[in-house]
Amino acid sequence: SLASHIGDYQFDNLLLNAAGVRCSTTDELNKTLDSMAGGCVTKSATPEERAGNESPRMKPLPLGSINSMGLPNHGIDYYLKFAEENQGKNGKQVILSIAGLSIDQNIEMLKKVQESSFSGLTELNLSCPNVKGKSQVGYDFDAVRDVLTSTFKFFKKPLGLKLPPYFDFNQFNGIAEVLNDFPITYINVINSIGNGLVVDPETESVVIKPKGGFGGLGGDYVKPTALANVRALRQRLNPEISIIGTGGIKSGMDVFEHVLCGANLVQIGTAFGYEGTPIFERISKELKEIMDKKGYKTLDDFRGKLKTI
Ligand code: DHB
Repeated sequence: SLASHIGDYQFDNLLLNAAGVRCSTTDELNKTLDSMAGGCVTKSATPEERAGNESPRMKPLPLGSINSMGLPNHGIDYYLKFAEENQGKNGKQVILSIAGLSIDQNIEMLKKVQESSFSGLTELNLSCPNVKGKSQVGYDFDAVRDVLTSTFKFFKKPLGLKLPPYFDFNQFNGIAEVLNDFPITYINVINSIGNGLVVDPETESVVIKPKGGFGGLGGDYVKPTALANVRALRQRLNPEISIIGTGGIKSGMDVFEHVLCGANLVQIGTAFGYEGTPIFERISKELKEIMDKKGYKTLDDFRGKLKTI
């Protein structure tokens, strides 16, 4: 079985899309809910609709992708309505992602969610690297503490956090110390590795237009960083906080590795962008074959059990 849960929320399959990929319209979201995925995540919402950055803003690469989308989305009301209407459809979860450009915007949207009939998980994205002039909140631990303090004064629904990748043990310790002070349901690591730069030597040029070519990396480039964040935070967070592993997943073996590091669920971004919804069936099959070979019947049989040497 590939079943898992986050808090009280059951997922028949641990695979989900990552926020941002094929999840901007109700048509895309319904396709994922009708696939083998355990649920869907909505494109990170802002209070109002946004067009996002100038194109080209995403470039596929042999080992992954670079993007600087800039939060193109239909606005919170659009995604909240979809979430209210589809939560529980086909026995699946809708995760509502929000990414305000300020604390005030996040609080404004979380109040709408609190007052709505939506009963699923909300994912507060503190890690978008692509909005010009805005830094990633997840790297400022005092700012993370401030937004969580304000949020939990009124927000009584289950909350997850989408975090940026951390690279130093002081960062793992620092963010864990903040998160352990709050009733967070889950964290999701990692968002893209922000502000990478891909160079095309043929044209002697950058490959995406916004921000002079700097953008978030996904795919093979980021898998070891993602695994490190799942593992390091699993070792530091209260056991009540679940972990969604995101980063570099394109095969059943990649999922197996994320779960060994401690992931309860996983999300697929870059590779889902390339393959679409059939990827959930392919990767499920690959993971089941690995588990059969190893004699594992459930994800609990190996979750978090990575060995050291
Ligand atoms: C975008 C990218 C992100 O990594 C994110 O977390 C939110 C938004 C974007 O560019 O649209």
